[in-house]
Amino acid sequence: MTRFTVNGQPIRYLLDPETPLLWALRDASNLTGTKYGCGAGLCGACTVHVDGNAVRSCQVAIGTLEGSFVTTIEALSRDRGHPVQQAWIAEAVPQCGYCQSGMIMAAAALLSRNGNPSDADIDAAITNICRCGTYPRIRRAIRAAAA
Ligand code: FES
Repeated sequence: MTRFTVNGQPIRYLLDPETPLLWALRDASNLTGTKYGCGAGLCGACTVHVDGNAVRSCQVAIGTLEGSFVTTIEALSRDRGHPVQQAWIAEAVPQCGYCQSGMIMAAAALLSRNGNPSDADIDAAITNICRCGTYPRIRRAIRAAAA
């Protein structure tokens, strides 16, 4: 059994401790806003926050999370009110949208520790992959959210 907090709720997972956080969230907790892309830590579609840091949930075994605080896209804000979500809407960032919850979680983590990121900071922090190539709009939205 592993216990940690997900979106403000204490959860006991009766799953193999090696279970990737991604699958605990999606399959056991029905939090399907966190997406599966590569399963290998490369694409970032599965990005969530663990104790405020952006992590690729496909690469984190739940057994390592005892006592941690996990936040998914479903709880980043109420009613899409987070500045990053507002900027994403204003800049019409998504194209197909599949990778965007991971992008938003990565961007929110960046802005929580750096309120005025340079383009280089953004490029260093947002290494998620978008097959639609929305990167210019992502940069604009992050700069708008920081303003
Ligand atoms: Fe986790 Fe691609 S699904 S990094």
